[in-house]
Amino acid sequence: MTSKMFSGKVFLLVTGASQGIGRKIAEIFASTLEIDSQVLLLARNLENLKEISNQLSKHLTVNVESVDLSKATAKELKDIIVNSLGSKKANQFNEVVIVHNVGSVGNVSQSTVEMTNYDLWTEYYNLNVFGPAVLNGIFMELFQEETIKKHVINITSLCGIQPFKSLGYYCSGKAAREMYFKVFAEEHPNVNVLNYSPGPVETKMFQTIIEDVGDVELKTQFQNKRKNNQVLTTDQTTKRLVEVLSKKNYKSGDHVDYRDEL
Ligand SMILES: NC(=O)c1ccc[n+]([C@@H]2O[C@H](COP(=O)([O-])OP(=O)(O)OC[C@H]3O[C@@H](n4cnc5c(N)ncnc54)[C@H](OP(=O)(O)O)[C@@H]3O)[C@@H](O)[C@H]2O)c1
Repeated sequence: MTSKMFSGKVFLLVTGASQGIGRKIAEIFASTLEIDSQVLLLARNLENLKEISNQLSKHLTVNVESVDLSKATAKELKDIIVNSLGSKKANQFNEVVIVHNVGSVGNVSQSTVEMTNYDLWTEYYNLNVFGPAVLNGIFMELFQEETIKKHVINITSLCGIQPFKSLGYYCSGKAAREMYFKVFAEEHPNVNVLNYSPGPVETKMFQTIIEDVGDVELKTQFQNKRKNNQVLTTDQTTKRLVEVLSKKNYKSGDHVDYRDEL
């Protein structure tokens, strides 16, 4: 039986919400929220964030913040959430949802043995692994009351469980990030944790891979996906995510792919 994803007064935070999958998640999730729920959208591009904010229901409180999530300190992240709450107390919300969507592919022209620059590794992991882990810890601390139902959605990838040539940063980062959320799920049985793999989706990231990927075979595979109309829209994958969360036919911490049977 399908039920609602979230209920009551909800606090929703989406990272990487300025475009692509994150933008669509923000739009579709927000459209399901009850009156007086609150939405916080993070990314660097403030213009885009404001545009999305203006499109969301006027019955919601919406805050946007331009932040480079590869550089933000734990204190800055905490302040962003606390400031968005204003005079509201965390326990005024029945449910809280954090969608760790932010992501980058890193340098996709190098093979693993060429990945010898510590600075590039650090920059990549700061945004894609350390940032989501730190933000998640802060979010859980701020909304720690037992009475608040918590949902944590990590946008993962097939690349987190299957190796692809030239995608050394991306595959290793997705695997590490997904495992962090699996450990988190084990430690927090009362939190609903989902690692959602959205499938190949037509976004700026997909375009970057097609243009820049070093491995010729992989480039052709991705080009063929596009040619054969196998690349999803952000709308298709987000609606599937809504179905996955509503049916809840997974164990907390599981990796669920767009194409999996529900
Ligand atoms: N597209 C696919 O085929 C595909 C497949 C599997 C998994 N995924 C995953 O889906 C998620 C979304 O990907 P997408 O395809 O929608 O990518 P995208 O279109 O490139 O969007 C990435 C988002 O992350 C934000 N972002 C990037 N760097 C940032 C930074 N330093 N600080 C703050 N925000 C930053 C971007 O906003 P700003 O530029 O405004 O900061 C943007 O909102 C990622 O985790 C990705 O790995 C995508």
